[in-house]
Amino acid sequence: MLAGYFGELIKERALHHERINIALSGGSTPKAIFDELAEKYASVIRWERVFLFWGDERCVPPDDAQSNYNMTKEHLLSKVPIPKENVFRVKGEKEPSVACMDYEEVLKKQLTWTEGVPQFDMVLLGMGDDGHTASIFPHEIGLWNAQANCVVATHPQSGQKRISLSGKVINHSKEVFFLVTGAGKAEKLDEIIHQKEACTSYPAALVVNPVWLLDKEAAAKLT
Ligand code: 6PG
Repeated sequence: MLAGYFGELIKERALHHERINIALSGGSTPKAIFDELAEKYASVIRWERVFLFWGDERCVPPDDAQSNYNMTKEHLLSKVPIPKENVFRVKGEKEPSVACMDYEEVLKKQLTWTEGVPQFDMVLLGMGDDGHTASIFPHEIGLWNAQANCVVATHPQSGQKRISLSGKVINHSKEVFFLVTGAGKAEKLDEIIHQKEACTSYPAALVVNPVWLLDKEAAAKLT
């Protein structure tokens, strides 16, 4: 159902616009959605009008099992007729600060800028069970308000370096969608959506007016 909702949106946007710039989320949640998108929308969406980016990427090579690009390639890109030149991965194999600068250049060249900020048409985000989103984690919540359009972040447990869009770019997008599934996220969702005290320390709570795409397990505490 969630894939259908998102597929219909992309189909409709690509019907009426020559180009739609979409930043995808990583992690594991999108896998099932991407599989279903590929199965049901490979020949329905005008993919030549879809331009794909990522909201964040791990600093690993593109063929690494942890790469968000690699996950998207396996579950979506390899199954739909999107032109290779429409896909802009973060070069996670580069030194983090170089990958970040490189991605800034991509945003500069490929996106329309309004009010001095690059603007995505759609951003798909996930949320960690600690309330992080993209790769902005609670322990580095200050990165959300970075002046830069993308930042080098650090995973709190593994120390893995990641490249992430900053809050400025995410909140400047025309449409932002959170795709959150599973009972493990229910507690944080309750705190964020009901704006409970603790939520101010969660980056996911700083996203302005997102559309929440939830399964019933993740939404269990919202009813
Ligand atoms: C990443 C993501 C991250 C992800 C959340 C949820 O690179 O991991 O972009 O923000 O969306 O961590 O991950 P799951 O979908 O695996 O729960």
